[in-house]
Amino acid sequence: VTARGAPHLTLLRWLRDVAHVTDPKYGCGEGVCGACTVLVDGEPTSSCIVLAAQVTGASITTASGLGEDDGSLSPLQRAFHEHHAAQCGFCTPGMIVAAAALVSDGRSHTREDLREALHGNLCRCTGYGPILDAIEAACAKGDSGVA
Ligand code: FES
Ligand code: FES
Repeated sequence: VTARGAPHLTLLRWLRDVAHVTDPKYGCGEGVCGACTVLVDGEPTSSCIVLAAQVTGASITTASGLGEDDGSLSPLQRAFHEHHAAQCGFCTPGMIVAAAALVSDGRSHTREDLREALHGNLCRCTGYGPILDAIEAACAKGDSGVA
């Protein structure tokens, strides 16, 4: 996508208001809740504290971009569904993006590793257990959906 102008916009505002990609959410706006997490060249990044202009030329992936080409869920997205890892869903896109980076690194992760890696993604509903269950299941299958 090519866009000009609005150099003051954060990546999150640009995604939501200009590109109309609304799965990254505005939570804290300060880089601490993880609701706005996207992958910037494969790295989980808080899009609320990065200017869109700073990522010119980078590959940006949001949770919706992790689905299959035919519109079906990726294995990671399916694992969230099967493990009931979302309630209100506000944190879910950021959680899935952060988890995708973990699943795609090809390493094995203990439950403690997952907790540590996701410490910047807050969930007010689930108690985190189902989320960790889903990510463990996806890690076992090893397909995050990240190209
Ligand atoms: Fe970006 Fe909270 S909205 S980290
Ligand atoms: Fe509601 Fe996580 S499912 S904040």
